[in-house]
Amino acid sequence: MHSSGGEAAGRPPVNVVGERVALGPLSRTLLPRYQAWMNDVATQGWAGYPTRPEPWTDERMAQWYDRAATDQERMWLTIYETGAWRAIGFCVLRDIDPRHRTAEFGMTIGDRADRGKGYGTEAVTLLLDLAFTGLGLNNVQLQVYEFNHAGLRAYRRAGVKEIGRRRRCYFVGGRFWDVVYMDCLAEEFSSPVLGRVLAPDEAR
Ligand SMILES: CC(C)(COP(=O)(O)OP(=O)(O)OC[C@H]1O[C@@H](n2cnc3c(N)ncnc32)[C@H](O)[C@@H]1OP(=O)(O)O)[C@@H](O)C(=O)NCCC(=O)NCCS
Repeated sequence: MHSSGGEAAGRPPVNVVGERVALGPLSRTLLPRYQAWMNDVATQGWAGYPTRPEPWTDERMAQWYDRAATDQERMWLTIYETGAWRAIGFCVLRDIDPRHRTAEFGMTIGDRADRGKGYGTEAVTLLLDLAFTGLGLNNVQLQVYEFNHAGLRAYRRAGVKEIGRRRRCYFVGGRFWDVVYMDCLAEEFSSPVLGRVLAPDEAR
């Protein structure tokens, strides 16, 4: 594993490179991909953006992109699979609080065909590496619906733990579901990439 500014031919700019997944900046050229993922009603229902099915028009996407791409308070990232350097999703670190050193994250692997292959688990690990090792945060949390088995499993495997539930507060598929609150502490996390990348150089 390594981290890189993206100098290799045919590779998009990336910030953190893992084994099968890399995280890099949002790209305007990927707007049609982001738009397709964000308009998938099933994904909207699972990921919770927005809380009811609704369309994302070109105009709304342009507004979202212009804000997200320059947002100093939230860190949006494209998720790539490193085999073909294909964009497979996006994630965000939001509510970054430098005083209390906390943040929350959200994540989507856009196409159903790319889910269940381990990409989500590695993407969470790389995002936590950015949060803990890169930004020096201490606690990162997330919320996931209790029916989101893939999310629960991916996050648990990445070391994120359940800390509580808000009961029956999300209505979908004809019934109420719990929201599961999960978090991870810096001391519980072992850096897969940035601990080595950010090591200071020694004098020669
Ligand atoms: C949640 C999400 C990011 C996870 O990413 P992913 O790439 O699918 O996750 P992984 O493949 O790393 O891990 C998922 C695990 O859940 C398992 N899983 C998937 N569906 C499952 C189900 N219905 N029941 C039980 N386990 C399930 C997979 O088999 C896999 O476990 P395994 O590797 O041990 O077999 C992705 O599925 C996604 O984007 N979903 C739609 C949007 C969303 O829910 N976003 C998250 C909001 S909190």
